Amino acid sequence: MALRCTLNRYLLLMAQEHLEFRLPEIKSLLSLFGGQFISSHETYGKSPFWILSLPSEDIARNLMKRTVCAKSIFELWGHGRSPEELYSSLKNYPVEKMALEFLPFEGKVNLKKPQHIFSILEDYGLDPNCIPENPYNIYFGRWIADGQRELIESYSVKKRHFIGNTSMDAGLSFIMANHGKVKENDIVFDPFVGTGGLLIASAHFGAYVYGTDIDYNTVHGLGKASRKNQKWRGPDENIRANLRQYGLEKYYLDVLVSDASKPSWRKGTYFDAIITDPPYGIRESTRRTGSQKEVPRGIEKCPESHVPVSLSYHLSDMFFDLLNFAAETLVLGGRLVYWLPVYTPEYTEEMVPWHPCLKLISNCEQKLSSHTSRRLITMEKVKKFENRDQYSHLLSDHFLPYQGHNSFRDKYFSGVTKRIIKEEKSNQE
Ligand SMILES: C[S@@+](CC[C@H](N)C(=O)[O-])C[C@H]1O[C@@H](n2cnc3c(N)ncnc32)[C@H](O)[C@@H]1O
Repeated sequence: MALRCTLNRYLLLMAQEHLEFRLPEIKSLLSLFGGQFISSHETYGKSPFWILSLPSEDIARNLMKRTVCAKSIFELWGHGRSPEELYSSLKNYPVEKMALEFLPFEGKVNLKKPQHIFSILEDYGLDPNCIPENPYNIYFGRWIADGQRELIESYSVKKRHFIGNTSMDAGLSFIMANHGKVKENDIVFDPFVGTGGLLIASAHFGAYVYGTDIDYNTVHGLGKASRKNQKWRGPDENIRANLRQYGLEKYYLDVLVSDASKPSWRKGTYFDAIITDPPYGIRESTRRTGSQKEVPRGIEKCPESHVPVSLSYHLSDMFFDLLNFAAETLVLGGRLVYWLPVYTPEYTEEMVPWHPCLKLISNCEQKLSSHTSRRLITMEKVKKFENRDQYSHLLSDHFLPYQGHNSFRDKYFSGVTKRIIKEEKSNQE
């Protein structure tokens, strides 16, 4: 039976990449633009064809100015499982909504500068080894806009001025900014800023950006280069220069050397979003500054050294601190978006860190290896922070389970052959 078209039905053509991240991206963007995700469609899991209802074409256009998960959007005029079904569905489409004569169209067709573009999209399923003779579904619609997939190429880390071993992939950085509902004039903070990959995506969407990192060399663009055939970082290889490369320097607030375990902020709500990729201890250590008592012998004789005394920073403590910091410093409604590394055989949803001021919005998996993944966690501040909130989540059922992941590094490397590690590294670069 053909689906009846009603007003404001749209067909989103989704990219077949980062499947789990797509729905939270579209939902977050719709809530940013005053729309709501209303859908009668069966599955969003894997299909590239999503049917949804939107209140206006403007919202559809705004959505496409931001999404990197969707390729295009069409005003859906008809849909069927055969040409006959599609035809009868089209016949039912309200004439007044067509803004044109009903099919077949009359008048001149200008293929070079068309006023309207119509598309037929055919769905042959997801299995490339089992393509049916006829499509499972046929859609007919008026093209409205394309998404921002080209940003993945134009902001590619390969062409970026300043990069490091863990620079975040451009596509994922934009997805994170979208999950974080970053908008113009926001203030976005990354407490584990590295080479600032996440700041770039937020600045592209018009937010002012700020970051901190414990590593002096990274913040100051010094030390060894991460590129092949280059030994040392060159002059002006830093986050500010990266923003300049993309014409976004005006959004640069600053980056400082600072330890996320000891934030040096006065009490207050400063940030509209905190978007970050904390270290997992695989390609960068999880360290925090320690007390003088623990100074290893010899270091006190080198006061000019920029390397602070450091202690290992357990992952569970790091996420505890991050949530607490976000709960304190985000504005109400502000979002925290971060990656949580997990050892998949032991992972359960209950171990996702929790805080009384933060509501979990989405939790999406990206596989790293056969037995490890990282999960993109998005939380929204829903309650004003009070001092008693500071430790209350220690009592929650969520705190203890993640402690098992403090040895994530050992788990990551256990049973993984050198070949697999090499493959993973080249996939992430
Ligand atoms: C995964 S990397 C971030 C990469 C970054 N998103 C980028 O695009 O380059 C994690 C960063 O956290 C920093 N870091 C580690 N421990 C820290 C701490 N205690 N406080 C602040 N930064 C820390 C590391 O120096 C590293 O640059």
